[in-house]
Amino acid sequence: MKSCKLSWLLVALLLIVVAVFSYKFTVGEVKPSDDGRLAVQLSKDERNGLLLEMRTWLQNSQAILAAVSSQDFAAVATIAKSSGMAAEAATPGSLFRKIPVEMKALGFDTRKKFDEIATDAERLKNSQHTIEQISIAMKNCVACHATYRFVVAGK
Ligand code: HEC
Repeated sequence: MKSCKLSWLLVALLLIVVAVFSYKFTVGEVKPSDDGRLAVQLSKDERNGLLLEMRTWLQNSQAILAAVSSQDFAAVATIAKSSGMAAEAATPGSLFRKIPVEMKALGFDTRKKFDEIATDAERLKNSQHTIEQISIAMKNCVACHATYRFVVAGK
């Protein structure tokens, strides 16, 4: 009888642990920022790593537009692919816990959009279509920047 009670206690304890972890995973580590956005709390290296990824995204977006303007669809595909889901593997696992779930969704969606740009550039070779896709993908950049900041925790 005693061991039965103990197992229930363990089950309850485990459920609480799971609940706490899923909660943390969903909301991430954010604090309100004085500019009205949400500040994601990171280590210095994590912040630097993400900002480098961001600059690569900007550089690639420009390079895609340059390639479209010279009708170089092979280049469009290569550059867009390097901003797609394949690049996600470089993101360290520790970050996943800190980034809120909506932000992760927006990030993944942006990567998927770059993969679509790559596939369509190879398939359709239609500059009007690629430009439209870039414009739509960049709405994600705008939306995320309007909502979030990256700060070094404790600063
Ligand atoms: C999921 C969210 C998210 C998406 C999507 C996103 N960014 Fe960012 N980006 C951020 C955050 C957060 C910062 C830091 C802003 C701050 O702290 O003020 C940032 C910063 C940047 C910076 C500044 C880098 C530096 O060195 O300071 C650039 C450039 C940038 N983003 C470009 C882009 C471009 C281009 C896209 C779209 C192709 C994009 N970002 C999409 C979240 C995002």
